[in-house]
Amino acid sequence: MKGLAGKRVVVTGGTSGIGEATSRRFVEEGARVVALAAGELEIETARERIPGLEAALRCDVADAAQVERAFARVDGLLGGVDVLVANAGISVRRPFLEIREEEWRRVLDVNLTGVFLCAQQAARRMVAGGGVILMTASTNGLSGHPLYADYNASKAGVILLARTMALELAPAVRVNAVCPGYVLTPMQQAEYTPEMLAEVDASIPLRRHARPEEIAALFAFLASDESAYVTGAAIAIDGGETA
Ligand SMILES: NC(=O)c1ccc[n+]([C@@H]2O[C@H](COP(=O)([O-])OP(=O)(O)OC[C@H]3O[C@@H](n4cnc5c(N)ncnc54)[C@H](O)[C@@H]3O)[C@@H](O)[C@H]2O)c1
Repeated sequence: MKGLAGKRVVVTGGTSGIGEATSRRFVEEGARVVALAAGELEIETARERIPGLEAALRCDVADAAQVERAFARVDGLLGGVDVLVANAGISVRRPFLEIREEEWRRVLDVNLTGVFLCAQQAARRMVAGGGVILMTASTNGLSGHPLYADYNASKAGVILLARTMALELAPAVRVNAVCPGYVLTPMQQAEYTPEMLAEVDASIPLRRHARPEEIAALFAFLASDESAYVTGAAIAIDGGETA
């Protein structure tokens, strides 16, 4: 991908699932990548699993002080940020009538406020010299999906955060939201039985989940010079689910 070699990249949730595949793809493209994540084991093993990764740092993206400290460490490691992939997220499968306030707040805190906090830190480092901010939203942010009211609201928020930032930060910084459909990752496998996965596959025009590498490829394109005219977009990558 044109223009990714030597880029200084931060990927949140960059040591599992979609984020792990994204970290790996950017390293393969010659970028220098720091991953921020929450899971202890995934962070410990990250540099073995993702050869060439500069560092995996523990950081709760919902905590402003931790995010500020993490970006200060990124400054020390990379000397700045050219690309942010704000990808960390959580989901809780729960009927609307049973969602507890603390669950609602945690999902919004991680999925929306966490993206805001990281995006603001990154954008402050980009306004002078340019950069690209990408966010993992979801097709759940484009239309209603039962049992994920908090998650869906957070992802719809991410889409309009991306669009608004794209307006305010143009032309220096491009900002886009990626909306994956169903992707086979630890998050998805934790919540769906094999029968549920098969049922989902049957409902998708391409008849399967996405592989994390397929989402990573879109992130690589959107961070590269090949997509120099793409900003303020919410791009579905969903095997035809929303068609
Ligand atoms: N898997 C899917 O089908 C699917 C579909 C659409 C969108 N998404 C979104 O893609 C993103 C990645 O999901 P995944 O499926 O790869 O899941 P995953 O569970 O494999 O990875 C989630 C990552 O986020 C990190 N994380 C969670 N809470 C965090 C916090 N508070 N601070 C910092 N890091 C935190 C985890 O440590 C992990 O690295 C999420 O935003 C998710 O909502 C997933």
